[in-house]
Amino acid sequence: MNILCPKCRNILYKDEKTYKCAQGHSFDIAKEGYLNLNLKNSKNTGDNPEMIKARKAFLEKGYYDFLKNKVNELLDENDSLVDLACGEGYYSSGFICKDKIGIDLSKSGLKIASKSDKTTTYLLNSIFHNPLEDKSASKITTIFAPIAKKEILRILKDDGRFILVKPDVMHLYELKKAIYDDPYVNEVEDIPIEGMELEKEIAIQEKRSLVKSDLQNLFTMTPYYNTTSASDKEKLDHLDSLDVSFCFLIDIYRKII
Ligand SMILES: C[S@@+](CC[C@H](N)C(=O)[O-])C[C@H]1O[C@@H](n2cnc3c(N)ncnc32)[C@H](O)[C@@H]1O
Repeated sequence: MNILCPKCRNILYKDEKTYKCAQGHSFDIAKEGYLNLNLKNSKNTGDNPEMIKARKAFLEKGYYDFLKNKVNELLDENDSLVDLACGEGYYSSGFICKDKIGIDLSKSGLKIASKSDKTTTYLLNSIFHNPLEDKSASKITTIFAPIAKKEILRILKDDGRFILVKPDVMHLYELKKAIYDDPYVNEVEDIPIEGMELEKEIAIQEKRSLVKSDLQNLFTMTPYYNTTSASDKEKLDHLDSLDVSFCFLIDIYRKII
């Protein structure tokens, strides 16, 4: 897949440690290997180092491997794949496609991703204004992340597929039960995307026993972490282990042509 210059939208070509376009704009590759194409001084700088560190430690234990494997079954070696909001590259690094691009706004995420995974091109950029050509991706993934609907429609090939992974109703319910007095199940609904239709939905789940450090890492990487009171967070300190359900929905969208 070609990468476009964020200044003039001409194609960028790799020239040793730099990407350049015909207009003479150039962008250095960071020492870890990712390419910073983010020209905006946006407030959103993606996930912070604490969240990235917790997610990496948790995912490295393999608890979500069954999800990665299931998504891989939907991919082909010859796909041109874009992982939108790839974080520290846990999924993109393991995907079987030969032509892979991962995009995220978190520098700490991309440093880890690009240092360890040389099979994917990592771009620091907003997923809402990405530097890719129209109709260039045959598969796009978005896993537990914001959905850049217009950009997905723009860069997806006509016969391509968009794969969205989201939490199912009972995802992490035991963890919430251990923390909150009044735990709630996740509200799940089909997400409409203009110009696309939901072709298939796959539900998968596994229950695993987690020890204290895994529970802490898991909780830190969830959206609940920032909204939970200190006294509720403390309840986790008193747990040595807990059986937790991981329940995911994999939604596959195709374009309406
Ligand atoms: C919950 S994490 C999921 C990361 C990865 N997909 C995974 O499941 O391991 C959400 C990711 O979205 C990224 N993100 C949020 N808003 C973004 C934006 N506007 N552009 C690019 N990345 C964004 C964050 O930096 C973070 O890495």
